Amino acid sequence: MARPLTRSGRAGDARDAALAALARVDQGAWANLVLPRLLAGSGLAEGDRAAVTDLVYGSLRLRGALDHALRPLSRQPLERLEPPVLRGLRLGAYELLFAGTAPHAALNEVVGAVRRAGTPGQAGYVNAVLRQLARQPPRWPDRAGDPVGWATTRGSHPAWVVEEAVAQLGTGGALALVDADNQRPRVTLRATPGCTGRDELLAELAAAGVPARPSPLSPSCVVLDRGEPAALAAVREGRAVVQDAASALVAPALGAAPGDLVLDLAAGPGGKAGHLAALGARVLAVELHPARARMVRDVARRLGVERALWTVVGDGTRPPVGPGRADAALVDAPCSNLGSLRRRPEARWRHGPDELGRLAALQGALLDAAAAAVRPGGHVLYSVCTWTRAETGEVVDAALGRHPELEPAPLGSLEALKDDLGDPGDLGDLGGTVAADEPATAPTRCQFWPHRHESDGIFLARLRKIN
Ligand SMILES: C[S@@+](CC[C@H](N)C(=O)[O-])C[C@H]1O[C@@H](n2cnc3c(N)ncnc32)[C@H](O)[C@@H]1O
Repeated sequence: MARPLTRSGRAGDARDAALAALARVDQGAWANLVLPRLLAGSGLAEGDRAAVTDLVYGSLRLRGALDHALRPLSRQPLERLEPPVLRGLRLGAYELLFAGTAPHAALNEVVGAVRRAGTPGQAGYVNAVLRQLARQPPRWPDRAGDPVGWATTRGSHPAWVVEEAVAQLGTGGALALVDADNQRPRVTLRATPGCTGRDELLAELAAAGVPARPSPLSPSCVVLDRGEPAALAAVREGRAVVQDAASALVAPALGAAPGDLVLDLAAGPGGKAGHLAALGARVLAVELHPARARMVRDVARRLGVERALWTVVGDGTRPPVGPGRADAALVDAPCSNLGSLRRRPEARWRHGPDELGRLAALQGALLDAAAAAVRPGGHVLYSVCTWTRAETGEVVDAALGRHPELEPAPLGSLEALKDDLGDPGDLGDLGGTVAADEPATAPTRCQFWPHRHESDGIFLARLRKIN
């Protein structure tokens, strides 16, 4: 629940900031990138900044529920409303239904912010609909009796996502996933290899009065109970980076040796490229978008690995190295991002099922490039932050079909994880498949799930180019 905003001018500023951030997200920006910048220049007090963050993330996360509540009350279909009106309605509905704001404050403040951002007519429409909503809150489908209906309304997940989740996890698993996706994420920090270890990082955080605990998944990660990571000395000085615990397993899973030349074919913003360089590899990072390539260079500077991490703006499907020249390649491919809905709640509204084919074609083309660039005996790691079959196992199976020179390779680093999890059975829960000629403990691909592993829903598969 959002901390109540201070009344008066400040509250207005807060709703103005929330609507401005939501407008940027509607234009295609990611909330986790725009919001920190917007808040930094807002002049809002710390408590109000936290409340704005809740308003923005909450109304993106619960957009499906909010639209379900608003639809019967709006004379115009929601899709035909002017964007500032729809944003105001969603923000107001979130405050009324979920944020615990007193109804008169929610109405006055949101309607005032819509008037300042738009027109009196737009504010009047928002006022009329929200007044009805305050009198007439929605009825949600029964979770037990109609789980799919519940998941697509109160659970705020698109129907196609729920359908795919039910197909893979069954109804109970899909509901658990929906619940996990709708939780506020905790911040996870990964210790930078060569700079600090997990225990040192925990001690440093404890000394700074920041409550943290070891991640149950990654031996190099800690989970913060609260706190602003950018304010921590360890983060500012590159000794730790903000990274999800399953993401932190990706770079080590490639299994590159110190000094190996590793290609990262989709590198921005650079979390895994920086991790590979800190682990001792020489990394050539390829990123299509110049702004994201700059972020990779920033990572290299912050970690002090500029001499081991080179960044190129370019198309990873046509990497700037000759065939067979790289020792290993990482393909951390663009995807539907359904595995990171806690951190990127808007991702669920960004891609439809019709886009999976385009994404899978790009993922496959990046794997083709990796297969060509890696030397015989070298490894390719494919990872995506999603769990749709079209972007995970099917992409890998198709690549294996096109490339007889590739074979599934064991994810050796995950065997160590088994010890950390303390129960050998847990590795099986990762959903791995095991190569026929490998011991039963060595999966060649695996799927992490937010509801099972307290992490993003990351898929990874390791391949080897046959000698
Ligand atoms: C999932 S993100 C990679 C995250 C990154 N590995 C990390 O750990 O920070 C995918 C990246 O691929 C980039 N991209 C998309 N198409 C590309 C292409 N054809 N070649 C290279 N990069 C591409 C996107 O801009 C995006 O930055």
